[in-house]
Amino acid sequence: MNAHKPFTAVFNLAEMDLFTSSLAKEIKAGQIITLSGDLGAGKTTFTKMLCKHLSIPEMISSPTYTYLNIYDDKVAHFDLYRLKSSEEFFGLGFEEYIGSAYIVIIEWPEKILTYLPENTIHICCKHSGNKREISING
Ligand SMILES: Nc1ncnc2c1ncn2[C@@H]1O[C@H](COP(=O)(O)OP(=O)(O)OP(=O)(O)O)[C@@H](O)[C@H]1O
Ligand SMILES: [Mg+2]
Repeated sequence: MNAHKPFTAVFNLAEMDLFTSSLAKEIKAGQIITLSGDLGAGKTTFTKMLCKHLSIPEMISSPTYTYLNIYDDKVAHFDLYRLKSSEEFFGLGFEEYIGSAYIVIIEWPEKILTYLPENTIHICCKHSGNKREISING
């Protein structure tokens, strides 16, 4: 599997766990990953599984009220659902994480997409019956 090649598949939870396991092996410090998709599409679940495979010890919950959680000084996890504008993102000083050594995972990235580097991995989650369709860089 190559995370940078366009890819679409339908996964149940166990398959998503396997997929995030192989993705974790490819990710290096500084990588930015966006997760788009409707409410309940699986973005936080994907993040939790990926962080588990990146050997992050803490329990992950979606940082819905804080925009940002830092895990193990290694992963910066944004949830920008409530972000009003890109100006707000920059006003909070969050650009320091772009181009940093953190692995950056961004749920609801739409308002800042144009500011992200070209090698960002863009992941889209969609409901597909009981499972989820996952597309990368598609
Ligand atoms: N691949 C999958 N197969 C089946 N169920 C899944 C899958 N991924 C996630 N789910 C389930 O979907 C539900 C919602 O997942 P999650 O909280 O990750 O969504 P979200 O995209 O982060 O939503 P929100 O935008 O509201 O925070 C959870 O109950 C989770 O277990
Ligand atoms: Mg979520």
